[in-house]
Amino acid sequence: MSKMQKCIAGALVLCVAFFGLMFARVIAKPATKFELAQIPEDQKLTRMGYAKAYPLQFESFKMTMDTSPSPTKYGGADAYSHLTEQPEQIELFKGYKFSIQYDDDRGHWYAGVDQLNSKRIPGQLGSCIVCKSSYMYDVYFKQSGWDFASKPFDEIAAPIKEDEWFGCSSCHDPDTMKLRI
Ligand code: HEC
Repeated sequence: MSKMQKCIAGALVLCVAFFGLMFARVIAKPATKFELAQIPEDQKLTRMGYAKAYPLQFESFKMTMDTSPSPTKYGGADAYSHLTEQPEQIELFKGYKFSIQYDDDRGHWYAGVDQLNSKRIPGQLGSCIVCKSSYMYDVYFKQSGWDFASKPFDEIAAPIKEDEWFGCSSCHDPDTMKLRI
């Protein structure tokens, strides 16, 4: 093979590789569709009801159970007390409930249980569950609008089962899986 032929062959190989990659990226891009599953009516507000239907997303959501401290040291999943770490916060929050308890936030998996155990809850109203469970929308709001928001927190939280606190339906419409937040 002459030098010229080698050059042409090399250029051809490069062209094939370049357009092959373009084809893979643009035309045969990875599927962005997912199989829409039918979640049973009594499971729609739960977390476990989605485990079999959407195993990848469920596994990913379960990672919010991880309580190891954030490597960045900013925020993170370890529920330590800011008031113990920085006692001056007690003074700064004087008169506010955060002076009673101010723990670092944990992952979404714990949103319900941490709220139920919070020392700041006594005296609070139902509006506190707005971003903690889709119960507020799918049950309360659909029944009677914002009425729940001004009722006592304990009364509003009582019927919500352990598995019905923050989960897939907090962000997704269970029927279409479209985002609704
Ligand atoms: C904090 C909000 C939030 C929660 C909770 C959540 N998702 Fe998502 N989900 C998203 C967002 C944001 C996207 C990306 C949407 C996009 O890119 O258009 C998404 C995408 C998806 C998709 C589309 C396919 C994909 O993987 O990109 C599916 C299916 C899905 N989520 C299922 C679930 C399931 C099942 C759960 C519960 C185990 C869950 N999600 C919990 C916000 C959430």
